[in-house]
Amino acid sequence: MPEDSLTALVTGASAGLGLEFCRQLAERCDVIIAVARRRDRLQKLAQELDGSAEVHGIVADLSTVEGVAATLEALRQKGPVDYLVNNAGFSPFGQFADLPIDVQQEMVSVHCNATLALCRGAVPFMRERGAGVIINVSSLGALMTGKGMAVYGATKAFLNYFSESLQAELAGTGIVVQALCPGFTRTEFHEAMAQHGFERQRIPEELWMESAAVVQASLQAIGTGEVIVVPGEANQALATSLLAKAGAG
Ligand SMILES: NC(=O)c1ccc[n+]([C@@H]2O[C@H](COP(=O)([O-])OP(=O)(O)OC[C@H]3O[C@@H](n4cnc5c(N)ncnc54)[C@H](OP(=O)(O)O)[C@@H]3O)[C@@H](O)[C@H]2O)c1
Repeated sequence: MPEDSLTALVTGASAGLGLEFCRQLAERCDVIIAVARRRDRLQKLAQELDGSAEVHGIVADLSTVEGVAATLEALRQKGPVDYLVNNAGFSPFGQFADLPIDVQQEMVSVHCNATLALCRGAVPFMRERGAGVIINVSSLGALMTGKGMAVYGATKAFLNYFSESLQAELAGTGIVVQALCPGFTRTEFHEAMAQHGFERQRIPEELWMESAAVVQASLQAIGTGEVIVVPGEANQALATSLLAKAGAG
């Protein structure tokens, strides 16, 4: 690979926002390290991007120590990475006391532990190069509290606080840190939730976004100095009112 070739590592690359990050980053990067559990989906992605980027599929379960270690190893061997997108995630539908604790702890591991480990793995290389972009995919849910999101919302609030502090610590290094906070986005995310009672049709149509538009907003925000990035006007209006309410409280 030439000296100036760029590399991205995207977790949750087999579907939804992660798949779309791979597609849009393939326009900027020569190598994509695509991480997820479903091997067939990663193979399909490699075929789709053939000719625009070299895709290295890494089959890893990021809720496990082994899965995170395998991803870190790929980051070291195929990196250094210029873009790190910590996107893998899921949400069980239900209230804290009704959901199995192991599923909720898996969510904490995927959203928080894996993100911390990969950031810790990538930052020293980025600092050495004086450049790099880290996108931690959070959620509009990070800005609100309520029934059914005790753990999901808390993990995403963790990502927002972590991203803001990390960006402050890395000021002047050339590294950009972003916490992307999408609202309702058409992906596979709500499929499992729908099987457990989540009613998609109750969400007003104007609140839904396509993953391509969410990823575009994220990539466009790089270099603007924004850490918390909320895509879409309807979501931005909601975020403004939630933040104002929190400030007043
Ligand atoms: N869709 C929305 O409305 C919405 C709104 C706000 C925030 N978000 C956030 O956006 C991110 C992406 O979600 P999405 O909407 O694109 O959902 P999605 O279509 O269901 O995709 C989720 C991705 O995460 C991967 N993943 C899940 N658990 C994993 C694990 N244990 N190890 C490795 N990979 C794992 C899945 O891959 P495999 O199953 O192949 O492992 C898949 O590629 C999540 O962090 C989510 O919280 C989504």
